[in-house]
Formats: sequence, C-alpha cells, structure tokens
Amino acid sequence: MPSAEEVIELLREEIRGHEHAYYVLDAPRITDAEYDALLRRLQGLEKEHPELVTADSPTQRVGGAPREGLVEARHSAPMLSLDNALNEAELRAFDERVKGLLGEAPYAYVAELKLDGLSLAVRYAGGMLQQAITRGDGETGEDVTANARTMRSLPLRVKETGEFEVRGEVVMPNRAFQALNEEREQEGLPRYANPRNSAAGSLRVLDAGITAGRRLDFYAYLHMPALETQWGALERLKELGFKVGAQCRRCESVEEVVGFIGEWEAGREMLPFEIDGVVVKIDSVAQQKQLGWTARAPRWAIAFKYPARQAETVLRSIEIQVGRTGVLTPVANLEPVGVGGVMVARATLHNEDEIERLGLAAGDRVVIERSGDVIPKIVKVARHGDERVKFTMPAACPVCGEAVVRAEGEVASRCLNPNCPARLKESLRYFASRGVMDIDGMGEALIEQLVAQGLVKGLADIYLLRPEQLAELERMGEKSAARIMRGIEASKVKPMARLLNGLGIPFVGERTATLLGDTFGSLDAIAAASEEELQAAPEVGVKVAQAIRRFFENEHNRELVERLRAAGLTFTQEKKRNEAGPLSGLTFVITGTLPGMSREEAKAMIENAGGKAVDSVSKKTSYVVAGESAGSKLEKAGKLGVTVIDETEMRRMVSGGAAA
Ligand code: IVH
Repeated sequence: MPSAEEVIELLREEIRGHEHAYYVLDAPRITDAEYDALLRRLQGLEKEHPELVTADSPTQRVGGAPREGLVEARHSAPMLSLDNALNEAELRAFDERVKGLLGEAPYAYVAELKLDGLSLAVRYAGGMLQQAITRGDGETGEDVTANARTMRSLPLRVKETGEFEVRGEVVMPNRAFQALNEEREQEGLPRYANPRNSAAGSLRVLDAGITAGRRLDFYAYLHMPALETQWGALERLKELGFKVGAQCRRCESVEEVVGFIGEWEAGREMLPFEIDGVVVKIDSVAQQKQLGWTARAPRWAIAFKYPARQAETVLRSIEIQVGRTGVLTPVANLEPVGVGGVMVARATLHNEDEIERLGLAAGDRVVIERSGDVIPKIVKVARHGDERVKFTMPAACPVCGEAVVRAEGEVASRCLNPNCPARLKESLRYFASRGVMDIDGMGEALIEQLVAQGLVKGLADIYLLRPEQLAELERMGEKSAARIMRGIEASKVKPMARLLNGLGIPFVGERTATLLGDTFGSLDAIAAASEEELQAAPEVGVKVAQAIRRFFENEHNRELVERLRAAGLTFTQEKKRNEAGPLSGLTFVITGTLPGMSREEAKAMIENAGGKAVDSVSKKTSYVVAGESAGSKLEKAGKLGVTVIDETEMRRMVSGGAAA
C-alpha cells in the first residue's frame, strides 16, 4: 500500500501534467469533469492530512484572504521598454545600426509577437515560484504574487533549483475578454475597453479569488540570467513548463524579419489574443552584450509597431436592436470602411449614456477601432457633420410597439413584453448557443423560420418540434433535421446551471448561474428561494436576487419552467460550495463601515472561507460584523440575540480561529 504522502504526490504530478497540457499546450488530455474529479480527490486527501499541504500543490493556487493593499517590490534589474520602429524603413535603419556596431560578424534575429498585455517579472528559487512583480515604473512594481499564482499557465514549481527570473506578458485571451464583458453588461457593470485593460484590472486586485475567476495567460519571453541565445532561452522556458508564443522565428536576415512581420499583420486576426507588433531581438547573448544598452532601452532589440486598427468614417444612422432580456441596444450604421484588412459597416454603441459620452449624432465623422471585440467600437467623434440627427431612445419597442422602460439606476432601456418577437428570437439564439444548451445546427436562419412560421412561440416549443416539420423548412433536409433533433435531445442532459443561464434572467450570466447551481443544487430550490436566501450565493447581491425573484414570480416564466420540466430537462445538480472552509455553515451580516476593508471585500473574504454573507439580519444569522456608524441592523441583532463581532474578530475566524 502506498502511503498517503505518496498518493498525494502522485495525484499532484498527474494534475500538474493535465494543467500543462490544457493551459500551456492547449491540448487537453482529459475532460473538465475528469480534471475536477482529480482535483477534488486531492483536496479531500489534503483535508485529511493538512500537514502534507505544500505551497506548490495545485490546490493552493488560490489561498489566503484578500490583502489590504498591494505592496511595492523592487525589480532585480530595471524593466526597460523597447525603442519602436513604426515602419519598414525604421526597422532597416535599426538593422544598419546593428551591422555597424557588430562589424563583419554574422548575426541572427529572433522575431516574436509583441503581445498586448502587461509585463510581469516572476522569480523562482529552490524550484518554487517565489514572487511576481508588475512592471510599475520599471524600477519598482507591485507584488502580485498571490494573484499571479492563480494563472494556470504559470508553473508554481519548476525542475530548476537555482535562482532565476522569467519575464513575460500577462494577457486575457479575446474570447475570455468578450465573455467577461458580456457578463459585466448583464450584471450592470461597466465594460472593459480592451483585453489589456481587463488583464490589468484582473491582476492588480486585492482579492486573488477575483484573478482566479478570470482567464489570464502568462507568456514567457525572457530568461534571466540570460542564456547563450534568445532562441535557446525560449526552448529552455518551454522545457521548464512555461507557455511560450508558438509564433516566433529565428531569422538570418532583416529580409526574413520583414517577411515575418508581414505574415502576422495579416495573421493577427486568427490569433486568440491581441498583439500590437513584433519584437525583434539579436539572438546571440554575447552580441547583445556587445551592443549594450542606452539609458532607455537595449540596442539589441526593437519593437516593430503595427498601425492601430483604426479608421475614420461617417456615422450614417443609429439603429436599435432588441436583445433577449429586452435590452434595447443602439447600433451604429457606418459608411463601410476597411480597418486593418476587414470591412466594417457596423459598431456597437452599448447604451444611451455611451452616445452622450461620445457626443455623437448621425452624420458625424467618427474614429472606429477594433481590439479584442468581435464588433468594432466608436472611440471618438473626428468632426461634426453638417446635418446632425440627434439620438433619442424610442419610447416604444421598434419591434413589438410596447412601452420601453429605463429603470432607475440602470443604463439599459428595456422592452418589457416577454412575447416580443425580437426577444424571442434572441432568446432562442442564446438558449441554443455553444456555451449554453449547445443545440447543434440551430442558427439564426433556422430560428428566423421557426418564429416566422409560428412553430416556436416560446423557448419550450423547441422540445415539441418534430423531424418532419424541420425537414420541410427552407435549406433543410432529412439529414439536417435529424442532426437538429439529436442536438435538441442532447440539450436535455446539459447541466442545470446551463439551463438556468439559458432562461435569460436579467443579470444571471454563465458565472452567476454556475454559482447559484453550486449553492442550491436544483432549479426548484432557486425558484423557491427568498431574496435573502438567494443572496447567500457568492457574488449575488440585492439587484440580482430581486431579478431572480421577479423572474420566478412571473406566471409566464413559471409556465415555461414547467414545460421544460415536462420535456425532461435536467433540473438538479450536485451542490459544491460552502462545504469546506472555516466559516462553512455560518451566515454573516456586515453593517457599518469596517476600518480595514470595503463591504465587498469583506463579503468575498467570508465567501472564500465557505461562509455566507447576506444583507438582512434574521434569527438564522450567525454573526453580525459591525463597523463604524452601524445602525438598525446592529439594533436588530441585539433584539434577536445575534452575536456581534468586529472586523478583527472576523479576520481571525477566516484564518481558522473560532469566535471568542
Ligand atoms: S522583450 C529588454 N518580448 O512590449 C527586452 N517584450 O517595450 C524587454 N512585450 O512592455 C522586452 N511581447 O512587456 C519582449 N515577446 C516580447 C514581448 C514584449 C510584449 C512588451 C513588454 C514591454 C513592451 C516592450
């Protein structure tokens, strides 16, 4: 029999291997569920043997409570930037300078993509990740070790025991960026402008739990101390388990570099992340030393910058689109224009306030930009048009004619008619989409026909469709009908959280649906939960809880749920959260101003430790955490006999101590 220690170490090795395959090589070898099962098994064993938990265990990526502020840290050597080349002539001038300084000696370049994220220095010693520091002013940055540890593509341990540092770029892949923004929009939060800002906003936070919930990637591009060649360094970094941009080339001449730059200017559309240029480095480190540095930047490298993907055009008109939750989104109709190789005729405007902020009217000349988003955006007005048509949000839905309402404190205006055909089509499109119920073949063209012919009048009607009805539709045959029927059938066994997400409850996107599912374990439990109970789920506040209640109180929606149940969809799942952690089973109410943290931070801290944080005091409340000028909730706690504690006491409990 192997010892517990041996089993734990074997499990860790296996999990690390799978993480490397998934996050570094983009080539998973097992399903997410299998991975989760392995991780849970390890968590279970570590719970039984807490003395065997080590910092490099895959379970320890997120650990500890949020901190009170980011701490500064000095870099081992300055993180300088690079000189830029804005065109081919400037690149060739750089090559001439290099040639002049190196004399007759042959030399080669390494061309790498210039990832558009934020740079990070990561130190290792004794085979373990020690510290991660942001660039800051180049001399001193912020210590973001706890947050960086949550990036699965950054190894916590390496097979190199000497001291060394790796520098690289933290990026948020475009798909993760789009999903995050969609979710933020759903939840009424401001959108991030581009993937770089959202990567920075996700890494430079006090609560590592937030970073862990975002998909960030670390791409390594520098090994310090330098090895013999840059090409060798990239190879070595890969060997050590780091993610290295696959798109790099050793070039024997500047001609080859020019070729590489041209290839990726066109190819950047296909990349999963944003780039803003190509970094060109002298390969030989001996030659790098010979060339040396100026005060600002190395003489042995240059950043070739691609032109920003911007263009000027005329805003012809502003059109309204009605989304699945009834939100009216203004969309810009543009004079078609090429932006970085793609013709653009439309741009999103998000909401009324955005149009106001831009000072935009139809007829204006505008600057549009593409970055990370599928749909380009208008960044500013270049010149007012002669005949300007100001935008006003319509008072009636342009599709069904019913009243449009903008709720207080919200940026969105909504059509409240649940039977609005625009809402129905969008709901169907969302319900059937990849990340939701994943009904293969149910695309826009089919949905258009299903609604137009009255075959589908509500979401649940999908489950009444018969193959012969589908086969008669345009551009359909028996074969495609059969494929769609299979997709519909397969959707019935999709996890409950996906169904919940697909229902289109305002503010309930993929993440919130997952958290609700994990907390309540069944759709019925969620539908039956009070506002207060709903808030016990992580990240669910008053607004989301109210929206959920309102949804399930609506008769149409209740009928929809019953019809989906009758169709045999999955309504239950395993509960996952609030089972481990020192605060498991305890409910907290925070009131007043805490001395050392915001209310959101306190809530996150409690939830990370397995507790629940709710907004109102009841007999079921375990503790009230009171700060400065606590009012009626403190009074109520007194009446009900609920124990009142302060922030210090709460922190002590979070770190495993019992309340005094
Ligand atoms: S090398 C001394 N390689 O671009 C060499 N930088 O001004 C320093 N960047 O903010 C950097 N991709 O974070 C290097 N493959 C790459 C890069 C890269 C992106 C960023 C870097 C810095 C800026 C250079």
